[in-house]
Amino acid sequence: MATDLDTDAVKMFGFRVWSYKMGEQVSLLIHLGDRLGLYQAMADAGPMTSSDLAERTDLNERLLREWLHGQAAAGLLEHTPGDGSPLTARFELTAVQAAVLADEANSIDFAGGAFRGGFGPDLLDALAESFHTGIGITYEQQGPEAAAGLARMTGVRSRLELNSVVLAGLDGVVDKLTAGATVADIGCGAGVSTITIAEAFPNSTCIGYDPSTTAIEQARSRAAEAGVTNVAFHAIGAEDVPADASHDLVLTFDCLHDMPRPDLAAAAIAETITPDGTWLIKDIRSTGDFEQDRRNPLLALFYGFSIASCLQSAMSTEDGLGLGTLGLHAARAEELARAAGFTSFAEHDFGDAANLYYEVRK
Ligand SMILES: C[S@@+](CC[C@H](N)C(=O)[O-])C[C@H]1O[C@@H](n2cnc3c(N)ncnc32)[C@H](O)[C@@H]1O
Repeated sequence: MATDLDTDAVKMFGFRVWSYKMGEQVSLLIHLGDRLGLYQAMADAGPMTSSDLAERTDLNERLLREWLHGQAAAGLLEHTPGDGSPLTARFELTAVQAAVLADEANSIDFAGGAFRGGFGPDLLDALAESFHTGIGITYEQQGPEAAAGLARMTGVRSRLELNSVVLAGLDGVVDKLTAGATVADIGCGAGVSTITIAEAFPNSTCIGYDPSTTAIEQARSRAAEAGVTNVAFHAIGAEDVPADASHDLVLTFDCLHDMPRPDLAAAAIAETITPDGTWLIKDIRSTGDFEQDRRNPLLALFYGFSIASCLQSAMSTEDGLGLGTLGLHAARAEELARAAGFTSFAEHDFGDAANLYYEVRK
């Protein structure tokens, strides 16, 4: 060890590193709060003691008391001291906090579903191994919790804004869907976007494609539970969608950068889309320039997603191009689309802090 180190700088840097460890622990507490229904039990309930929450949820008071104090320490709940005994302290989930942590059905800002409680040892081993082999793991290999977790993370925006904001902002798409069109949702995951469109446009048929059989099983169950019949799901990748010019609208939502061969996917989309069809790409906001991307205060989060999932999937075959989470910026998307024979490319900002949309036509 160097002896002339600035010890204050070391301590400050140590604080930064420990703050990420705190993030890991707080993430776990958020996962537990979401999983145990604690945020929902506190929403609209006003200030409550740990005993009140225990009574409401039928859970252990001592553990809840610790969880409540931990959440208040993290600034996720409000705390009012009692008479000195921790049993009399009151905790409140405000309306703002509930919008982010409790209201999955109606709040576009709901984030609680993104906290999966960490990775199991097998997945951690597989991630470490990929650094040796250069071959990443697929979404399917991440297991059912990952597919379900992703559906909760991206599903809120699909359910609340896909039809009313995104599709409504495209040229002529809503009219076609209303009259009756065929939609391909490629890389559909657990099918939230597919089903959302199918429900809103009963004259249309929506077909979800994804190579993960786990995700496709979840999509089929979701459709059956919702009683939606104008959908179908097929466990195949983008490269293998039917080359029959049958799809009026093709979606690739948050998945082109996950595909090992997005170039082959774009070529297949050119074959599956009708001559006047629309290809709508939703992908992470990035510029292709690291220094510019650094203006995003959550940039490290996206690199975490990339190493854990997106780049893994994009490197899951020997010939994978490996774009990763931040690898599909507008210029790259346009290059892929034009190389596949598309001639029109329009960028849309629909107010999604994480994603941009690209409307592509022949
Ligand atoms: C981040 S998830 C997005 C899922 C869904 N579109 C959403 O927005 O929630 C990426 C999806 O891409 C899928 N995927 C990976 N490789 C693919 C390929 N070659 N063709 C189609 N989908 C692929 C994965 O299985 C995964 O479901």
